[in-house]
Amino acid sequence: MPLVTTTEMFKKAYDGGYAVGAFNVNNMEIVQAITEAANELHSPVILQASAGARKYAQQAYLMKLVEAALEVTDIPIAMHLDHGADFEICKSCVDGGFSSVMIDASSQPFEENVAVSKKVADYAHEHGAVVEAELGTLAGVEDDVNVADDKAMYTDPDQVEEFVKRTGVDSLAIAIGTSHGAYKFKPGQNPKLRLDILEEVAKRLPGFPIVLHGSSSVPQEYVKIINEHGGALKDAIGIPEDQLREAAKGAVCKINIDSDLRLGMTAGIREHFEAHPDHFDPRQYLTDGRQYVKDIVHHKIINVLGSDNKA
Ligand code: G3H
Ligand code: 13P
Ligand code: ZN
Repeated sequence: MPLVTTTEMFKKAYDGGYAVGAFNVNNMEIVQAITEAANELHSPVILQASAGARKYAQQAYLMKLVEAALEVTDIPIAMHLDHGADFEICKSCVDGGFSSVMIDASSQPFEENVAVSKKVADYAHEHGAVVEAELGTLAGVEDDVNVADDKAMYTDPDQVEEFVKRTGVDSLAIAIGTSHGAYKFKPGQNPKLRLDILEEVAKRLPGFPIVLHGSSSVPQEYVKIINEHGGALKDAIGIPEDQLREAAKGAVCKINIDSDLRLGMTAGIREHFEAHPDHFDPRQYLTDGRQYVKDIVHHKIINVLGSDNKA
C-alpha cells in the first residue's frame, strides 16, 4: 500500500469514535515493532519523526524504513514530521516525501503562529501533504522548545475557529493537561485532563480532527522492570489511559506516544543484560527491546486508541 495522508484516517476515526496512534520512530527496530503490532491488529498507524530523529537516523534512512514497512504490511501508514520548528524544516520533509507535517509555532504569539502555519499549509497542500498546527503550550520538552511547567497554557477555545479558518490547517494539537516526557505529574497529584476544554473546542470546530501530544501513560510495569534491573526512574508518572480513551471517543483523532516506547525498549534491553551479562550481539538484546515496544503498541491500539480492525 502506498503512503497515505491522514485525511481519510481522521475522517473515519472522528466518525468511528476512536483515534489513530502517532508513534515516534528513530530506528529500524522501532519501525518494525510499531508496524508489526498495527498490522496484526489491522489498525491504521502514523509514524512520526522529530528533528532529533532526523538528526540521529537521517531522513533518507527513515524514509527507506517506512518504505519497507509499507512493503511488508497491509495497513494505511502516514509519515509525519513531529514538532516542525519552522517553514524550512516542514518544506524539506514535504519535499522528502512525508505525507504530513506539523508546524509547531505554539510558543509564538497568535498572529505569528497563524502566519507561519498558513505558509506551511499552503505549501504542503500544493504538494499533496497535510498539516497539523498547535495552539496552546504543553509543559515539558518539545525538541528545540523547552517550556517551563508554570508556563504551560491550556488552549483557549475562543481562538480555535479563527486559527483554523485563517491557516487552513488540517488538524489541530491542543493543550488540555498532557505534557511530554515520563514525568508528567508529581506524586500525590491527581492527573486530570481538561476534557471540558476539549468539548468546547469540538463544539467550535465540528468534525475537525484534534491532536493530543504528550500522551504516554508511563506503564508502571515497565518502570518497575527498569528500576529492578539497574535503572533509576524515580516517580515517573503518565496520563491515565481511561482519560485518553475518553478523549479518543470524541474529537481527538491522533494521539502521540513516544516516551512509553522508550520505556519498553529500555526495559527489554536492561532485562536482557541482567539475564545474559555475557551477551554482546545487538541482535540479541534489541530483539527483547523490540518485543516490549511491540507489546506496548498492541496494548495502546486495543485499550487506548480503539483503532483495531479499522484499517
Ligand atoms: O515531542 C517530543 C517527542 O517525544 C520527540 O522527542 O525530540 O527527543 O526525538 P525527541
Ligand atoms: P510523550 O512524551 O508523552 O510520549 O509524548 C510524545 C509526543 O507528544 C511526540 O510529539
Ligand atoms: Zn509532541
